[in-house]
Amino acid sequence: MNTQDVYILAIESSCDDTSAAVLHNDKVLSNVVANQKIHEEYGGVVPELASRAHQQNIVPVVHQALSRANIDKKQLSAIAFTRGPGLMGSLLVGTSFAKSLAIGLDIPLIEVNHMQAHILAHFIKEPNTPIPTFPFLAMTISGGHTQIVKVNSHFDMEVIGETIDDAVGEAFDKSAKILGLPYPGGPLVDKYAQQGNPKAFSFPKPKVDGLNFSFSGFKTAVLYFIQKETEGNPNFIEENLYDICASIQQGIINILVDKLKKATKQTGIKKIAIGGGVSANSGIRQTLKDGEKRYGWETFVPKFEYTTDNAAMIGIVGYYKFLNNDFTNEKVSVKARFAL
Ligand code: KG4
Ligand code: ZN
Repeated sequence: MNTQDVYILAIESSCDDTSAAVLHNDKVLSNVVANQKIHEEYGGVVPELASRAHQQNIVPVVHQALSRANIDKKQLSAIAFTRGPGLMGSLLVGTSFAKSLAIGLDIPLIEVNHMQAHILAHFIKEPNTPIPTFPFLAMTISGGHTQIVKVNSHFDMEVIGETIDDAVGEAFDKSAKILGLPYPGGPLVDKYAQQGNPKAFSFPKPKVDGLNFSFSGFKTAVLYFIQKETEGNPNFIEENLYDICASIQQGIINILVDKLKKATKQTGIKKIAIGGGVSANSGIRQTLKDGEKRYGWETFVPKFEYTTDNAAMIGIVGYYKFLNNDFTNEKVSVKARFAL
């Protein structure tokens, strides 16, 4: 098989974004993402609506990815798809589509673990974006995930810490909801936090063993705090919105940084690569940069479009698996839970 010019079509449909990408080796030629606005009305992802929207989006999204890449489907070397983890109905749409297309084109099929893809997204070749060398620590933080992974090589990864309840993005979004902000509230908390005092209020840090995280108690602490304060002053939120957001954000950052410090100590690894939608947070980015001077960390943040859910990250895993001849077949089924 020709490994000089590998063209991978990648498909991602694990949650509420339908995405398709075309890669030429480790470079992205196109990366199309259709976001599903429908969930905003419900304040969270509704699985049944997500899978229906994937069905509507998948054909036009794949078509657009191929045409933006200026690639004919006959040039494709293989098709990579997200097998899991994710929402069953959503995964089924992308998986079935990938299988049928691979059979139709008579090319290999490559299954991809979504969490592995968030990490290998750091290996997409882009100008001015340094690629981490092994071993490094990957922290994946999004609306669905919170993990610290020790990455020894492309396919040798070890989860050393993860959330035992909510993901960090949920802590942002649920706190925002308590403040009456629209879903997803994370980016708004970030925006208002920039004008507030992070030390105005304080929220307790959960006590969780080792490198694991817990965020459900944090959200409850925010709820009780707001309930108590608004009893005394019904305008408390409006009058203190910036300070509340800054303090919530600082509370979440403290939880993350605490565990990162512990992880670097425990492993002796000071290279930290972050991914997932929450890595867009300006406070987290600043804290990581500060960590370079304070703790001697070396930090890696991929281009934003490769850090939220997207198919380019599925494609880069596809490329490395292609080089390893690591293929699957049409009998493969989706895995809602899928360990690294
Ligand atoms: O990776 P992503 O797009 O989707 C998954 O959840 O897989 O992440 C979305 C999450 C949401 O919880 C959203 O509120 C959060 O990332 N988020 C942020 C920021 N931008 C996105 N949270 C805090 N600050 C931000 N700037
Ligand atoms: Zn994700």
